[in-house]
Amino acid sequence: MNRQTNDPSQQLRIKWDQRYADEEKIARPAEVLLNNAHLLPKQGSTLDLACGLGGNALFLASRGFVVEAWDLSAVAIQRLEQSARQQNLNNLHARVRDVENHPPSTEQFDVIVVSYFLERALIPALIQALKPDGLLFYQTFTQLAVSSEGPQNPAFRLADQELLQLFRDLKVRLYREEGRLGDLSLGSRDVAMLVAQK
Ligand SMILES: C[S@@+](CC[C@H](N)C(=O)[O-])C[C@H]1O[C@@H](n2cnc3c(N)ncnc32)[C@H](O)[C@@H]1O
Repeated sequence: MNRQTNDPSQQLRIKWDQRYADEEKIARPAEVLLNNAHLLPKQGSTLDLACGLGGNALFLASRGFVVEAWDLSAVAIQRLEQSARQQNLNNLHARVRDVENHPPSTEQFDVIVVSYFLERALIPALIQALKPDGLLFYQTFTQLAVSSEGPQNPAFRLADQELLQLFRDLKVRLYREEGRLGDLSLGSRDVAMLVAQK
């Protein structure tokens, strides 16, 4: 099959499909969700946005939440569907969806999780998509980093304290960003984490 294209959104799909075809990549929930799961409501509708292999979605579904998991990579979504089937998680609904062109609807979710995806233009839609009192869990790479992990283009990484600015209309319940302070061999480096409530 000829997979050459000039369409940037198609190029992005191909790039991610190729990455997810690597069987060694595994689904892992983000630290911001794993370490703060006690803040989750008892039940509700949840979204893992730009879910990739769906580590967050699988985690939420295994705790009984109804989960939507959206990503533009069909390969990632197929692998997530397979994981959900293997774990008997009928409450997980994985869909191929370009979230820039098709963001969530107003007040659709009680919980939204975003890890390692940064599309600043989408932030107002994410805030809108939360139900009243809804919770957002966000974690992604920062420009101020210790290792060379993550995207090299600084535009795809958060500026110092930027998550706080982007979600200033929500109530911040938890924020962590260690920058390059102290003993660089310890801690949660290279990322910022936010849990915020509408
Ligand atoms: C670095 S991965 C992170 C995946 C997952 N959230 C995680 O933490 O492992 C970024 C993901 O964003 C997805 N993505 C990029 N642009 C997208 C878009 N416009 N709509 C939906 N997904 C998108 C990619 O396919 C990829 O799976």
